[in-house]
Amino acid sequence: GEHILSVNQLNRDAIEMIFAVAKRMEPYAKKHKRTRVLEGAILANLFFEPSTRTRVSFGTAFNLLGGLVRETTGMQSSALAKGESLYDTARVISAYADAVAMRHPDAGSVAEFATGSDVPVINGGDGPNEHPTQALLDLLTIERELERYGKNVDGFHIAMVGDLKYGRTVHSLSKLLCHYKNVKFTMVAPDGLQMPDYILDTVTNAGHQIELVSKMEGNLAADIVYQTRIQEERFPSQEEANKYRGGFKISQAIYNAHCKPESVLMHPLPRDSRLDANELDNDLNSNDNLAIFRQVQNGVLIRMALFALTLGVDNVVEKYEAEVPW
Ligand code: CP
Repeated sequence: GEHILSVNQLNRDAIEMIFAVAKRMEPYAKKHKRTRVLEGAILANLFFEPSTRTRVSFGTAFNLLGGLVRETTGMQSSALAKGESLYDTARVISAYADAVAMRHPDAGSVAEFATGSDVPVINGGDGPNEHPTQALLDLLTIERELERYGKNVDGFHIAMVGDLKYGRTVHSLSKLLCHYKNVKFTMVAPDGLQMPDYILDTVTNAGHQIELVSKMEGNLAADIVYQTRIQEERFPSQEEANKYRGGFKISQAIYNAHCKPESVLMHPLPRDSRLDANELDNDLNSNDNLAIFRQVQNGVLIRMALFALTLGVDNVVEKYEAEVPW
């Protein structure tokens, strides 16, 4: 099967095909129906970095398709610590498993691992580089949220806010949006944390309009406001990261002052809920335009679709449908 390592592999047809399969997965992700199309298959869930959503939703997606999940969260205590290469590790793990989901702190590491794997490897985040499944679930969420307001992805306005330098989700999402037309980007980041030039160039070359700003005020009247966490673990020091804490928080009062009434708020999560960070304040929890937990639901659908597609069972999912008694 094919690996999913980067959004660079995807064109608009591929994105639309993945979304069509993801939407077909919806009944099986609810509680009244299951499919057993991957019964007996084993997923190796390899996480070399902390994760809640990506790890659990890859596992849940595989389970919802009837498959088994081998969790390997303690990879820091694996033989890699004895100097084993990612290639050898992949040769070993892919002999045990039918698919691999992997997160690692180094850019390019998941692609390196994939060279030794003869089963599909899906990138769950490689350092500051990419997080393709997050970008797909974000884009599906954007499409669905815009639909509520009678809009579509072509021609919409997104404000990306916060740590655009180290935030891999905004890198992958920006690249995916290059397959759409006339998107307006407002990049709201402090000096030092602005979007890398190669992403800005890619977005400009796709014909999109970019506005770069270093302050929040008055700049958030977008259809989608995509907030990010300061990626403290990727800074040279904690002291350096602390300089940026809390600089770009959005509360209900800030939303009222600077967003449109229909601005949808997104965040890849986790949001840092400590008082001095508070990227998306808890007082937004009852705001109907807070889409953060709808993103999470869409993430399971995307990951189910990618497993079905990479394992070549997308056309027979319904054939293995099962009613459940609960
Ligand atoms: N959005 C995301 O990648 O979250 P986790 O780090 O919890 O997986």
